[in-house]
Amino acid sequence: MTEPIQTAPALQRVLSGMRPTGKLHLGNYRGALYNWIQLQHMYECYFFIADWHALTTDYADTSRVKENILDVALDWLGAGLDPELCTMFVQSWVPQHAELHLLFSMITPLGWLERVPSYKEQQENLVGKDLSTYGFLGYPLLQSADILIYQPDFVPVGQDQVAHVELTREVARRFNNFYPAEPLVLPEPQHLLTPSPKLPGTDGRKMSKSYGNTVLMSDPEPEIRQKLKTMVTDPARIRRSDPGNPDVCPVFDLHKIFSTPETQQKVREGCTTAGIGCIECKGWLADAVVAELAPIQERRRQYESKPYEVWQILDAGSAKARKRAEVTMQQVRDAMHLIQIKSPTRAQDFAAGKTQ
Ligand code: TRP
Ligand code: SF4
Repeated sequence: MTEPIQTAPALQRVLSGMRPTGKLHLGNYRGALYNWIQLQHMYECYFFIADWHALTTDYADTSRVKENILDVALDWLGAGLDPELCTMFVQSWVPQHAELHLLFSMITPLGWLERVPSYKEQQENLVGKDLSTYGFLGYPLLQSADILIYQPDFVPVGQDQVAHVELTREVARRFNNFYPAEPLVLPEPQHLLTPSPKLPGTDGRKMSKSYGNTVLMSDPEPEIRQKLKTMVTDPARIRRSDPGNPDVCPVFDLHKIFSTPETQQKVREGCTTAGIGCIECKGWLADAVVAELAPIQERRRQYESKPYEVWQILDAGSAKARKRAEVTMQQVRDAMHLIQIKSPTRAQDFAAGKTQ
């Protein structure tokens, strides 16, 4: 009797990316990064900095791309993404993404891209930029290539990216239809709707770089306190003696994310009875935010002092990603009957009529 061989089940694969928009704010942190840090313990994870995607809107001045990549990588490492547990890389260092994007561009009807909701929305919102470019229309198709090239099971994204994952599944389906293989070359991934609370910024609108209402993960403590002190509150609470309503107050929305249940209870009671003032309430919030960010900022500083190590991490991650992406690309090229020169003798084989 031989024992059945026990092999560890292969981990399911996860892929996600972020555009390098500069230093990350609390919305980016809680909306995405915080989840990624949990996921790296559960899945085979690929996380990348989408520098080509940044060019779709910021093509005219590319002078800050490099600095922005480093800032994003520093925030990732500071927050606890661990290069031992996940593969962190830069999109443009894996040229296979561009090759797959090109092949997808051959099979994707224009209407599919024109229908993606973010296309018209962004064109209308980002005034002052000419977004009637080929690359901007292709934004979600490049994203489809980013995703499918790793043949992932899951793509953790916020609600705003679900339409892009849906398009990705349609592109995969169309590809598999035209170029069938067993097993399918491009399995359809699923989006993983991780908790991604919409954090309000200091003006009460959604925290966003374009609104100038952010608190950065790397802001020094006095700046965090100052920014939170100016945050808008329940507009009906005008005087200190007016009771307030935490359920309509953006400060309380942040308490719900960063403060303990005890502090939240203390705020609710103090606010509704006018027992506390808003300045005091915001001070407690700042305490919680500062405490959560302290170890993150400490780790960030360590990496800031040796940026070459950060570039090395991205370089090594990109090499791993290229290897994995190339595995898929060989299957893609084979399925599409594109000639691949895999070895020096390959050209001779071809000439001799050996096409496999
Ligand atoms: N479009 C994503 C964003 O703006 C970034 C992104 C690019 C991405 N490629 C991706 C996210 C692939 C997930 C998977 O946030
Ligand atoms: Fe908002 Fe706090 Fe002021 Fe109440 S006490 S209105 S929760 S800031």
